[in-house]
Amino acid sequence: MAESRSGPLVLGIETSCDETGVGIVAGHKLLADAVASSVEEHARFGGVVPEVASRAHLEAMIPTVHRACADAGITPSDVDAIAVTAGPGLTGALLVGVAAAKAYALALAKPLYGVNHLAAHVAVDTLEHGALPEPAVALLVSGGHSSLLRVDDITGSITSLGSTIDDAAGEAFDKVARILGLPFPGGPHIDRLATTGSADSIAFPRGLTGPRDAPYDFSFSGLKTAVARWVERRERDGESVPVADVAAAFQEAVVDVLTAKAVRACRETGIEHLILGGGVAANRRLRALAETRVATAGLRLRVPMPGLCTDNGAMVAALGSLLAGAGVPSSPNDLGADSTLPVTLVSVRA
Ligand code: KG4
Ligand code: ZN
Repeated sequence: MAESRSGPLVLGIETSCDETGVGIVAGHKLLADAVASSVEEHARFGGVVPEVASRAHLEAMIPTVHRACADAGITPSDVDAIAVTAGPGLTGALLVGVAAAKAYALALAKPLYGVNHLAAHVAVDTLEHGALPEPAVALLVSGGHSSLLRVDDITGSITSLGSTIDDAAGEAFDKVARILGLPFPGGPHIDRLATTGSADSIAFPRGLTGPRDAPYDFSFSGLKTAVARWVERRERDGESVPVADVAAAFQEAVVDVLTAKAVRACRETGIEHLILGGGVAANRRLRALAETRVATAGLRLRVPMPGLCTDNGAMVAALGSLLAGAGVPSSPNDLGADSTLPVTLVSVRA
């Protein structure tokens, strides 16, 4: 298969949260994307339970690697390198992936790349749209993170422009869904319900949008509380809760702030390209509003398909392939998991 390769053949492992993802990528070419999710085991708790996630990763790891290799038509010894999410994420969950990746790298005598989960959410876009435009502004919105990043070089130069000071955007979706009696994870349910509701029926607050507020930071906990108070008041007054309207108005408050700040970051840094990533980037209203606002501002937008926005192994393999192709030093054999790995560290170098 060497003649069809567009870059190093890399097997990527993702276990930072509740998805055991194994992807196989050659350059910008996606060869396999196998995902085993433990989300249903967490649903009754209303959030991811770290110990349950770690155990599920352990059980899913080897079968998912085998499935990815079968899908790609390769054997593990064909790969040029192994990549794995080294952080940020849940420590116990990360450790399962890191231990597996180290074992494969040692057994196969291949270089190992411990990569940053957030950088991987950006790198995944190369699988659909080719080489990244650099510099770019990236808006990363997931269950654990909401960040605005400046990406000068996806293999080594990322700076943080701002991030959430409390809840992540996806966390706000999940918490509001719970208030509305919707299943976990709530983002896709709110996305779907909102299409039948009226976004301007309720005026929910837009956090950190005052003239003296940090322009690129986010806050969603006040919004979540405002939704809870609004719903409580209706229930206390014996009135029914218009769930679709609340979902639509809440969603609008989130995506309004996200897109306004992302476009502002592009304008103020003079950067033409905006990239969206992370699970919340699967949200239809966020994608649509970003498209409109980016076009109005004369900017360009890149958004991966929804299946590549949520956690997966292909994003880790994509970043690993870019790192290997750029000749970035690989990680040491004693690579560890770092639950708070800063986004400025794209990969852990020896
Ligand atoms: O990136 P991801 O799969 O995992 C983390 O790194 O956290 O993101 C998961 C988050 C969850 O909070 C989920 O509710 C949210 O992404 N999400 C969505 C949608 N699909 C997933 N939020 C809004 N609309 C969606 N369509
Ligand atoms: Zn993620």
